[in-house]
Amino acid sequence: MEQHVGKAWGTLKYRDAAGKEATAMLNKPVFRIGRLADNDLQIDDPYVSRLHVELRFDGVQATLVDRSSTGATYVNDQRVSEAQLRSGDRLALGRKLAGTEIVFEYADQGAKPAEAAEPHQVMSVIDHSQTRYLNTSLIRATQLTNAATVNRLKALYEITSAILALTNREELAEKLLTLLFDVLPAERGVILLADPKDNTLRQQAARLRSGDAAQVSPSQTIVRRVYEGNVAELCLDARNDARFAGQQSIIFQSIRSVMCAPISSASRIWGVCYLDNLTTRKTFEDEELEFLMAVSRQAGLALENIYLLEEQKITFQSFVTTLAASIDARDDLTAGHSARVARYSRSIAKYMNLPEAERRRIYYAGLLHDYGKIGTREAILCKPGKLTPEEYAHMRDHAKNTYDILSKIHFTRDMQDLPLVAAGHHENLDGSGYPFGLKGDEIPLGARIIAVADFFDALTHKRHYREPMPIEEVLELIDESTGTKFDPQVVAALKQFVQQEFIPNQRKRAEAEARRAQAQVPQAALIDGDTTMPVMPPETVMSPETVSMDPVTL
Ligand SMILES: [Fe+2]
Ligand SMILES: [Fe+2]
Repeated sequence: MEQHVGKAWGTLKYRDAAGKEATAMLNKPVFRIGRLADNDLQIDDPYVSRLHVELRFDGVQATLVDRSSTGATYVNDQRVSEAQLRSGDRLALGRKLAGTEIVFEYADQGAKPAEAAEPHQVMSVIDHSQTRYLNTSLIRATQLTNAATVNRLKALYEITSAILALTNREELAEKLLTLLFDVLPAERGVILLADPKDNTLRQQAARLRSGDAAQVSPSQTIVRRVYEGNVAELCLDARNDARFAGQQSIIFQSIRSVMCAPISSASRIWGVCYLDNLTTRKTFEDEELEFLMAVSRQAGLALENIYLLEEQKITFQSFVTTLAASIDARDDLTAGHSARVARYSRSIAKYMNLPEAERRRIYYAGLLHDYGKIGTREAILCKPGKLTPEEYAHMRDHAKNTYDILSKIHFTRDMQDLPLVAAGHHENLDGSGYPFGLKGDEIPLGARIIAVADFFDALTHKRHYREPMPIEEVLELIDESTGTKFDPQVVAALKQFVQQEFIPNQRKRAEAEARRAQAQVPQAALIDGDTTMPVMPPETVMSPETVSMDPVTL
């Protein structure tokens, strides 16, 4: 700002960009303030009009007259076109909350010439500590704050409600941009999230109000500063801001104004939310930056929730997988049985069009279906032959044991029925099964699915007392028991799975192994990580007559 010193009827005090107090002397009957240099006080701010206000003094009273063409003038936070001034009045030109605040005083003989002001920087930086929520200290109960503030608060509430309900990062980033575009006059928007592996910011979603979103490339300078400093930034004129000197991306893209806020929570900075405009007609305001910060803060909380949920899922999965593996490890021949039954069950559920959450529950129940075998004696578990009636009775106990043990574990609400579903895989549709002798719909659908998957896997794999059966014969045996033992709808879904996935995968695997054998590469141990099973040499496949159908072997 320029300084004017002389005999004065009043003063204007303000803080310059460096935070130093400066004083302008009101030394003319009509004192003009505006953006151009021919004013008595020049304010280099794009929000300020060429000639913004006149301060007129009639010898007794000072009057402010707004002369701005497009901007606004505020006295003590109230928008005015004309106002009589009193000592201590706060003036703001163009912007109410964060523009240069000017304090008017009638003649003050003690006023001293101010030092030359630093060039004004067209940049607001708001510290993270001030951005936790919408800055309510800036919302004053005046007649003018109301409609706009209430609308923003409504929008904030709606956005918060929407994003806190989301359960994955991709969805959250897309939804956030959609909601912000509804409220803010942004032409382009980008959400960048930090990759937890290497802490690198990656573009998660981009939006262009009109045109191809692939063209959206944010200013890396601002993005890095916001992310590393955890501060929000508003830049009103990137092209003329010295901070961007030499930033080719801004020059080439002609970015006019930019807002960028960190997406953070108490534990970490998850990323940044970046919005910009290319046209000169639309510049962001401080209140819009406040709003963006509030929304970004809520997005940070939503991401924290998503992260905790993902962690919980991973912990649960590793816990259940380890339990299942500990059972399978008791016997080499059943290694991988629980994992395969879980996968087959999930696939059957998919072909039955069950919801994703239900498939997930069935998968975990499949993993634990034989956990009760932890109490089965090894001599019986690994006996290379038919079981005696007593041994058979002992073997049957594993289903009840599964229920008893799993019932003691605290499962989350969505997994409450897991013990019954897991333990019910030996129940029969006609009520002849065990451990509870449930009938028809009394048997949870998940248990009916696991029963079929369990039978299919057991018969297509080697056991101590028999060799694996060909798939067609296993399906015939399943057909024979459909309606009495197995649920017809589940069997139909199993057949779809076998035809569309299991057999094609098995064929591919056989071809790959043949190629490996031809190349004389030592065969790697088969890893039980897909929906296929090891291909057995034809000579080891036995006829159905030689196969025991004893259910306790499953
Ligand atoms: Fe079993
Ligand atoms: Fe089993």
